[in-house]
Amino acid sequence: MIRSSLAKNEKRESLRAQKCVRWLLSIMAHFSAMIAFQNAEALAQPPSKKAAWGKALFFEPKLSANGKISCATCHEPDRAFTENKNSSTDIEGHSVHRNSPTLINAAHMDVLTWSNPVLRKLENQIIVPLFLDTPGEMALVRVWPRVRSELLEKSPHVEMYRAAFPEEKGPPDTRHLFSALAEYVRTLEAFDSPYDRFLAGDHKALSAQAKKGRQLFFSARANCSACHSGVLFSNAAKKEFLEKKDPLARSPAKDSQGNILQFAHNGLYNWDEKGGVPEKHEGLYEFSLKLEDRGKFRIAPLRNVARTPPYMHDGSIASLEEVVEHYNRGGLNKCEKRKKCSSAPQKHSLIRPLGLERAEKQALVEFLKSLSSQRF
Ligand code: HEC
Ligand code: HEC
Repeated sequence: MIRSSLAKNEKRESLRAQKCVRWLLSIMAHFSAMIAFQNAEALAQPPSKKAAWGKALFFEPKLSANGKISCATCHEPDRAFTENKNSSTDIEGHSVHRNSPTLINAAHMDVLTWSNPVLRKLENQIIVPLFLDTPGEMALVRVWPRVRSELLEKSPHVEMYRAAFPEEKGPPDTRHLFSALAEYVRTLEAFDSPYDRFLAGDHKALSAQAKKGRQLFFSARANCSACHSGVLFSNAAKKEFLEKKDPLARSPAKDSQGNILQFAHNGLYNWDEKGGVPEKHEGLYEFSLKLEDRGKFRIAPLRNVARTPPYMHDGSIASLEEVVEHYNRGGLNKCEKRKKCSSAPQKHSLIRPLGLERAEKQALVEFLKSLSSQRF
């Protein structure tokens, strides 16, 4: 008894320590990235040359510790820069417990990643997969001196670097990498879907079913647009992208402080039936340490969503049909021990049974499919 409770305590302590290390690393990354970002901004250069080098870096597996993983491994261009895996794996093959999000229009999001409320600049975000070692998505830090001298100071990278930063005299350093990669991500922009053509006046761009789905999406009944608002279909987009919106749009939902709601519990889990979540699915709670934030995630943008299965932060829903079914039931509310569970107390009140008929569910799916760009 005593031994097992001691073991439990030790485990808890070690988990706490691991969490602490992760938290410290994320703070360190945040501040060092902020410095890097300010310097990178000062290096104002012609964007196209910078983006061109950023693109080459994006597809460069030698930027990882094992020489096998590039940004494009997890952000595949053919899948709207996502990966067809529930969650990505690091260089050791361990899960990072998060589904890889699209990078299209990512530059227009106000907050980045699935649940980090302080990560707001691409230059800061990019440090995480590229350099951090726990988990090491690319873990470049382990091989940086060699990569710098054997890859970046040699052809073709060195020429691209010189073209991108003509005023720099020294060799490329980490600031240049973050700056060029972020510039490339900024070029991944798309507002040319059938839905955009429809809003521009081409009434044939949407099928009758997709038009019906649009009505439902913006209706008080389904009320998807209270959370998925603006032209990126996410309350977590930058303000100017919330102001541009569909004429049918409803006002975005607000949080308890009266700010636009950017993170929400959409009824995926109620693990212990008391609002608990499975390990690694804490979401916003990891940063705020407030119990009511357990299982709250960034309201996902929905452009190109038909190209980016599986869905949700953990890829736990396989298809758009199942996503719509999830909302129609008022959330799946999955729990550890039983099949059917009640809702978590922190689940948002808009996630409630919708009573949609089959044709209505199909219409919503058709509408979601109309948000895909022709470019990607
Ligand atoms: C091992 C897989 C993997 C690799 C490699 C990877 N990413 Fe990611 N990326 C992810 C995952 C998973 C997330 C979500 C992280 C989270 O929520 O904590 C993400 C998030 C992002 C985001 C935030 C998008 C948004 O909408 O918030 C950007 C930008 C990004 N990655 C760019 C890059 C770049 C640039 C590289 C290369 C330097 C890269 N990623 C390498 C898996 C990866
Ligand atoms: C209370 C706010 C809220 C409402 C209302 C809402 N959603 Fe969501 N939605 C979210 C959040 C938060 C996520 C991300 C959750 C996660 O990953 O754990 C999400 C994720 C999604 C995704 C997955 C996106 C991806 O890339 O994985 C789709 C699709 C989606 N919602 C469609 C809808 C539709 C359709 C409706 C209306 C029936 C709707 N949502 C209503 C908050 C909301």
